[in-house]
Amino acid sequence: MKLLKKGAEADIYLTEHRGRRAILKVRKRKPYINAALDERIRKTRTLREAQMISLVKEFGVPAPLVLDLDITKYAILMEYIPGTTVGTMRPFRLVDACGQIGSITALLHKNGAVHGDITTSNFIASRNRLYVIDLGLASRTQRNEDYAVDLRLFREILSSGHAKSAEAAWRSFVRGYVSVIGRPGYARISKIVADIESRGRYATVV
Ligand SMILES: Nc1ncnc2c1ncn2[C@@H]1O[C@H](COP(=O)(O)OP(=O)(O)OP(=O)(O)O)[C@@H](O)[C@H]1O
Ligand SMILES: [Mg+2]
Repeated sequence: MKLLKKGAEADIYLTEHRGRRAILKVRKRKPYINAALDERIRKTRTLREAQMISLVKEFGVPAPLVLDLDITKYAILMEYIPGTTVGTMRPFRLVDACGQIGSITALLHKNGAVHGDITTSNFIASRNRLYVIDLGLASRTQRNEDYAVDLRLFREILSSGHAKSAEAAWRSFVRGYVSVIGRPGYARISKIVADIESRGRYATVV
């Protein structure tokens, strides 16, 4: 078993399952959090991730197959998705992929779910499709405010992590999002984004 990545939350190992490559995602102990709370968070997110991966597939969103779950070890064994994360793409491909992130995000929202951590490293381009991963913070919700948080986070990720293509990537994302949700739906949600942002600015001034 090979350590592939050390994420903010979890260690990602490349392993094998029935002769195929598989990913073992193990949520790590955070020493600065109270032990009981840390255990509860890791359990909840591990379980949540496994459940939400299966749920989003029902909406037609590509996601890795969950192969096994060991809650006592905070571990999920899942299908390995070969490919590149959107975050590592060159600007031209990145902008295009952000359109697909937009339509996937809208598909989640339309079906009453949010991802909770929409970043360019949580989407993998593979076999001409975009797979969503890292669903530990995903949840079911019907509130436009929660959908707005997904959009706002992604726009922030673009301006902090992909400054040069941020504008074009955001426009592409919105095009993809609108194509699934429709103009009026997007207008309602982006109004909430603007409200949150103006409150945020006010808070920093005070
Ligand atoms: N099923 C998979 N197939 C291929 N690569 C994967 C898979 N799952 C995770 N990875 C790789 O590992 C990285 C981290 O995975 P993930 O986002 O699930 O963990 P994380 O701890 O939340 O990380 P981060 O804090 O970076 O978001 C991904 O960006 C991707 O490069
Ligand atoms: Mg991630």
